[in-house]
Amino acid sequence: MSEELLRVEAISKAFGGVQVLQDVSLLLRSGEVLALVGANGAGKSTLIKVICGAYAADKGTIFIDGQQQNYRNVREAVAAGVSVAHQNNMTISRLTGAQNIELGREPTRFGLIDKRELRRRAEALWRVFDVNIDINAECGDLGPGEQKIVDILKALATDPRILILDEPTATLTLGESKRLFAFIDQLRTKNIGVIFISHHLQEVLDHCDSVVVLKDGRLVHQGVVDNNLTREDIVQMMIGRSVVQEKRASSAVAGETVVSVENLKVGSLHVNRFEAARGEVVGIAGLIGAGQTEFLQCLAGARRPSQAGSVELFAKPGLPKTVGDAVLDGIYSVPADRIHTAIFGALTVEENLSTASLSGLSSKGFISSRTARARAGELISALAIKCAGQDQKVQELSGGNQQKVSFARWLSRPGLSQDSLRNQIFLLDNPTEGVDVGAKAEFYDLIGRLAIRGGTVIVTSAEFTELIAICDRIYCISNSTLSDHFPAVEMTEETLLLKTN
Ligand SMILES: Nc1ncnc2c1ncn2[C@@H]1O[C@H](COP(=O)(O)OP(=O)(O)OP(=O)(O)O)[C@@H](O)[C@H]1O
Ligand SMILES: [Mg+2]
Repeated sequence: MSEELLRVEAISKAFGGVQVLQDVSLLLRSGEVLALVGANGAGKSTLIKVICGAYAADKGTIFIDGQQQNYRNVREAVAAGVSVAHQNNMTISRLTGAQNIELGREPTRFGLIDKRELRRRAEALWRVFDVNIDINAECGDLGPGEQKIVDILKALATDPRILILDEPTATLTLGESKRLFAFIDQLRTKNIGVIFISHHLQEVLDHCDSVVVLKDGRLVHQGVVDNNLTREDIVQMMIGRSVVQEKRASSAVAGETVVSVENLKVGSLHVNRFEAARGEVVGIAGLIGAGQTEFLQCLAGARRPSQAGSVELFAKPGLPKTVGDAVLDGIYSVPADRIHTAIFGALTVEENLSTASLSGLSSKGFISSRTARARAGELISALAIKCAGQDQKVQELSGGNQQKVSFARWLSRPGLSQDSLRNQIFLLDNPTEGVDVGAKAEFYDLIGRLAIRGGTVIVTSAEFTELIAICDRIYCISNSTLSDHFPAVEMTEETLLLKTN
């Protein structure tokens, strides 16, 4: 048994009277990869922030190598050997990858920043991942997976003994995730301890040595990962019930085609042919960054294609010119980068849930606050959004609960309460990113109900099993081209992987 590296003892933390962590203790040994799992809002990120010095605990003690730690901020925790890649992207978009990695620790020569040394160090880390990213590109121009890798390399740049990764794989492609796990294996041999947070429980079973389960701020399990531990066991401990992912029952008859695209080009993606019908859930399978996000943005009026080809939406030629035009045409989107673009962190949960639907809540020009409140309350319970109350600011919610708010926002549109959604198209770009297994099932159910009421859903996902479970048909992007489609019932994760390489 290897040595004890980090011991966390009886940590408690409350925010404004809400107890978020209660007496949490855990042990990490050197060379161990410890998974930390729990439903959205269970307290994982908060615990990490205590361990890395970002938050002071109300109670409890942290030991490294048996020594009690009294660090008061992140800098002191880094000096003690703790480093974190946080859940939210922390890269600064106007700086390059190299500059982000070395931020705050620029090597100096004669008092000036030694650019060559900076570059050399960053490149050494870059090779670790063997990724094809331009180290000198501004991070704002990189894709989400690439920015995440910069974040992880930044955490590694301090030579930590304890590396904490808070949902690193949520935005990574499968290939990038594979490289990350291969790299974590190397860290094991160097006796570095890793705490790994993920909602992808298969990753926990495949790559971690032990697992800690948090539920409502309390530790409910710490144990080894071995053949006796199943995914169902973990789910049961996380949410207190089991969740079976069932194939959605397809809408009996596909209606008429309402989306038809031919010969559209956006970025490096060529959409040869794409169609979607009323009542249909159509998936787009592609590696993250294959162009599916940009394609959905074109349909949503948020981006111009480089070649428009021929497009018909509801038998009307052409793409919407703006997002506002799209909404007027009944085209709603949940964008990929919604934490930055689709929610207002400084506003309350209720305000966020009603901003998409002001017109429907107003009577004679006044917004009925009672209606807004009731509607927000319904959405909070439908999606099990964990918040202290409707007046809590969205930026205070856990990552997964922010995702739920952004998803619920457009559900609050009054048009959606109509019985028929025959003239509505929903563009969902990786809608379940960062969402826990229980809430995922709710999302799938909602997506199915949109289609049953005649809506057209176009959805992407980084998880192919998810596409297979919720879609009628799936289009695959291979070699930068989107044209082949297959009935979801005939697909397996393996076949989709082969078709998208
Ligand atoms: N700064 C804050 N102010 C008030 N409440 C907060 C704050 N930070 C977190 N919380 C609350 O603490 C709880 C736990 O949040 P945390 O981010 O730790 O969850 P999590 O387990 O990481 O969830 P997720 O899987 O969604 O990322 C949530 O209910 C959240 O609303
Ligand atoms: Mg979190």
